[in-house]
Amino acid sequence: MALSILSGFLVALSISQCAALYDSHEWIAPTASDVRSPCPGLNTLANHGYLPRSGMNISVTDILDAAVAGFNIGPDAIIQAAKVGLLSGDAPTTMNLDALKLHNLVEHDASISRNDFALGDNLHFNETVFSTLANANPGVDFYNGTSAGQVMQARLADSLARNVNVTNTHKEFAVRTRESAFYLSIFNDTRTGVTPKNFVQIFFREERLPIAEGWTRPETTITADSMVPVERIIQSAAMWTATQPCEPLVIGPTITI
Ligand code: HEM
Ligand SMILES: *[C@@H]1O[C@H](CO)[C@@H](O)[C@H](O)[C@H]1NC(C)=O
Ligand SMILES: *[C@@H]1O[C@H](CO)[C@@H](O)[C@H](O)[C@H]1NC(C)=O
Ligand SMILES: *[C@@H]1O[C@H](CO)[C@@H](O)[C@H](O)[C@H]1NC(C)=O
Ligand SMILES: *[C@@H]1O[C@H](CO)[C@@H](O)[C@H](O)[C@H]1NC(C)=O
Ligand SMILES: *[C@@H]1O[C@H](CO)[C@@H](O)[C@H](O)[C@H]1NC(C)=O
Repeated sequence: MALSILSGFLVALSISQCAALYDSHEWIAPTASDVRSPCPGLNTLANHGYLPRSGMNISVTDILDAAVAGFNIGPDAIIQAAKVGLLSGDAPTTMNLDALKLHNLVEHDASISRNDFALGDNLHFNETVFSTLANANPGVDFYNGTSAGQVMQARLADSLARNVNVTNTHKEFAVRTRESAFYLSIFNDTRTGVTPKNFVQIFFREERLPIAEGWTRPETTITADSMVPVERIIQSAAMWTATQPCEPLVIGPTITI
């Protein structure tokens, strides 16, 4: 009797220890040899083991699978960026996260958490740059499409004032809009229908999913279509005009940006 209680306890103990030890999606800070990108989304996926924690030799399929598993973002919303990302290096079918800092491939000026390439470090999170978003939508504890567009306008104004080499064409505006729609959509709290500042700030500052703070993975897949309404609000609030024209960029049989 005593023995079976003891063995039952030991089995229960080993199961719970296994669950902790083998939870491959816990957040772990990158080691000195791991590489990370200018993208808080990809970095978060790597920090939680949805992408290789090394940040190296990552395929397009790895990224598409990780985005569904970690954020419930569907392939259609990121596949163009993922494919273009392959051009950041020489390997035929994989990329390294740090190579994605290549200026004007996907990386662009007027970011919300990184400096412009011509102004310094365009790879790592910078709290001074991020303070525009951190302090946006004063008086309430959430961000929305209006505040996201206002942040984009302010970040572009800063780049235009300080960076004589700024690149600001329709391509950059489309990419920047999509990036803001991502943070608003992923961290939209189903309980309140808004995007808590706290979730977004943890994502940018720590490149961590705010699970301990109450975030849960979206139940509905985030797609290019699902982001259209908030992208319209963002674009309207950003009051954007181009600095240079760009040639039409063909990125798929039905998509020209
Ligand atoms: C998996 C879903 C993704 C999410 C949630 C996401 C989210 C974001 C966000 C919020 C930013 C803005 C950072 C800033 O302006 O400071 C960003 C930037 C960036 N993303 Fe992603 N992204 C995703 C997928 C991708 C993919 C597939 C690629 C290409 C392989 C990519 C490459 C980049 C790059 C290079 C930047 C830097 C742009 C810049 O600020 O200069 N991202 N991403
Ligand atoms: C990535 O691929 C290269 C070339 O095949 C290889 O030398 C390297 O060890 C790989 N790195 C990781 C972390 O898988
Ligand atoms: C702007 O670009 C030109 C040409 O690449 C370069 O010579 C110059 O140093 C750049 N200026 C700044 C402020 O980055
Ligand atoms: C952060 O960005 C600000 C504004 O561009 C810059 O002055 C500062 O040097 C940056 N800090 C680091 C550590 O790069
Ligand atoms: C975003 O939040 C601000 C502050 O509450 C509000 O004034 C604005 O109307 C909101 N925008 C949208 C699109 O709901
Ligand atoms: C957030 O979720 C609510 C419903 O829960 C929805 O009405 C709203 O459009 C969503 N916002 C974003 C940015 O996804």
